[in-house]
Amino acid sequence: MSLEYINQELHLIQKSKKHNLQVLAQRVGEAFYLYNLEAIKNRVDFFKASFQRNIRVHYAMKANNHPDILKIMLKAGLGVDVVSGGELKEALDLGFTPQQIIYSGVGKTVKELELALNKSIAQINVESPQELQRIGELARKLKVEAKVAWRMNPDVKAETHPYITTGFRDNKFGMDKSFFPTLKNIMKEYSELKLVGLTLHIGSQIRQIEPFVEALQKILQDFNNLKAEGYPLQTLDVGGGLGINYDKLDLPGDEKKIQEYARQMEQQLKGFQGDLLLEPGRILVGSFGYLLGEVQYIKRSPWKNFAILNTGMNHLIRQPLYQAHHRIQPLIQRSENIEAYDVVGPICESADVLGFDRPFPKLQQGDWLIVEDAGAYGHVMASTYNSHALPRIVTI
Ligand code: LLP
Repeated sequence: MSLEYINQELHLIQKSKKHNLQVLAQRVGEAFYLYNLEAIKNRVDFFKASFQRNIRVHYAMKANNHPDILKIMLKAGLGVDVVSGGELKEALDLGFTPQQIIYSGVGKTVKELELALNKSIAQINVESPQELQRIGELARKLKVEAKVAWRMNPDVKAETHPYITTGFRDNKFGMDKSFFPTLKNIMKEYSELKLVGLTLHIGSQIRQIEPFVEALQKILQDFNNLKAEGYPLQTLDVGGGLGINYDKLDLPGDEKKIQEYARQMEQQLKGFQGDLLLEPGRILVGSFGYLLGEVQYIKRSPWKNFAILNTGMNHLIRQPLYQAHHRIQPLIQRSENIEAYDVVGPICESADVLGFDRPFPKLQQGDWLIVEDAGAYGHVMASTYNSHALPRIVTI
């Protein structure tokens, strides 16, 4: 990890927006997330430009639903992928048209589906025969057409944390080919159901391209077979999942990954006539959000040094939940002496760790630390556990 590189980036943030982070942090005075909107916009543009064919990008807003970020997506012509009635409402309120919205998730309730159907959103990604049945019944009751896509479980193993693989056969997501006869019967029962396409999502924080390609090959076959049977499929939705480099700041490296992903996916799609849908989340926002916290206490035991912050797993739970590594740096480096610290929060659990054994120039009470790559699945997963306040958000 290069201190210099991170300092450079901090310098960039500070210079470009005439913000001094230390001054900003002290002014905010409590733990906060910082989002670099300009960098997010650039990443979105880069992502779109990496594909040669026409694509429909539906930002997975579960990664970060901050209104300023959603507005960037809207302005850039992206749609959204929502996973709850709450996200659906947020997207509509922000100005996304129903045509720009697709809806994923295994547990959609009657109320949520009614909202989606009444708004006539572009596509409901169906995760089980029972869900399809429910959608059919509701569409009949509401006298509307339901545009659905079957979510496939392609049974591929992606190298990522087991909690965030979704395309393996043991996962609760998607459906195996063996579901087809049942699904087809339900389709026959309800003329209100219109099968517009197929969809999949194999997991998150995936850094190899092969699993994406393998899944795409499988779903393409199903797509072509169903088309040959007369189903008027139009959309092929390949989900999200492309990961970022959490080990070091490597924006050019992440961009290369995007290009490689686009190239390899498009290679598989030569001759494919339908619409290609993508649901990226993390890759668009992950590297451009930071969590900042202030050292409340330095505690030195005979075995360890702890930097105890005013923020922890209540604000960023990725370390305890997935053993995720987030780079952490002090905003000001006041000493040449390097010491290792466990960076921990105020929560009454030993799991409350942002980073283990981090080498920093000697810290003192009142120093501010910045936790990097917290733009995706950071604030959205924050809680008020122990009745702490949610972190503030500052955008620059
Ligand atoms: N589409 C669907 C259907 C999804 O379930 C997800 C993420 C995405 C797209 C976007 O995936 P992305 O491009 O962001 O990888 N909380 C975990 C990640 C959970 C991802 C859930 N689904 C984390 O902090 O790593």
